[in-house]
Amino acid sequence: MARITASVYTSHVPAIGAALDLGKTGEDYWQPVFAGYDFGKEWIAEQKPDVVFLVYNDHATAFSLDLIPTFALGTGSEFKPADEGWGPRPVPTVYGHPELAAHIAQSVIQDDFDLTLVNKMDVDHGLTVPLSLMFGQPEAWPCQVIPFAVNVVQYPVPAGRRCFQIGQAIRRAVESFDEDLNVQIWGTGGMSHQLQGARAGLINKDWDNRFLDRLIDDPAGLSQLPHIDYVREAGSEGIELVMWLIARGAMADIAGGPKPVLRKRFYHVPASNTAVGHLILENP
Ligand code: DHB
Ligand code: FE
Repeated sequence: MARITASVYTSHVPAIGAALDLGKTGEDYWQPVFAGYDFGKEWIAEQKPDVVFLVYNDHATAFSLDLIPTFALGTGSEFKPADEGWGPRPVPTVYGHPELAAHIAQSVIQDDFDLTLVNKMDVDHGLTVPLSLMFGQPEAWPCQVIPFAVNVVQYPVPAGRRCFQIGQAIRRAVESFDEDLNVQIWGTGGMSHQLQGARAGLINKDWDNRFLDRLIDDPAGLSQLPHIDYVREAGSEGIELVMWLIARGAMADIAGGPKPVLRKRFYHVPASNTAVGHLILENP
């Protein structure tokens, strides 16, 4: 049986990808950001997940105003790094797990969540930067990755409550797959940031840290937070944080199991215009 063994949460700031790709990780500005992921890199080398179910958002790269899926499951066998305007990042192709993804599609859709299935798309910094932060710069990504793109760019966006519920359905789906697989689920994006308008540059450290506290200890309560609170408190792009609730909803305790073990908590400002947050929770 496939098992969700852990969840990982991280921001996906594109400048972090550029810092890695341009060899700037040792610079004074970037060193403290990457240091926050040293533990995670060692930890994941020991954990050796077979598959990462990676919850992220596309930034008008694969999708646009032409087509706005709320929840899009990557069912294809490979996903190329996207050209976001400066050429594709020099990172490996992402290989999917079409069999597990097809099973998740069957299970989650029959469980009343209407997914969009995507057999062909490129993946942008929302997906590749978290992979780089956790795996560094390998020749090939060390596991298969199922992309799960959530619309947090074009309104209306899904509520945190819905995200938390879909996480629970994803757990049921993974745990009913008949092959022994070590599966991790990652929630990415956030933390507080606003990229445009009068409040551009907004960072709310207190709110971010309260979000981390509650994600760990009170995820069901946190899932009730209305989307306007994210935008008001954490900025217009702070809404990306609802994606963390999908990963948290897939953890064992939400289905009546034991509480997860907190393996890592990290918070740093600044990285570009964004506060960087990172958590690792392991199912005991
Ligand atoms: C920045 C952060 C993001 O999440 C994003 O998608 C684009 C830019 C930034 O901080 O620059
Ligand atoms: Fe983003």
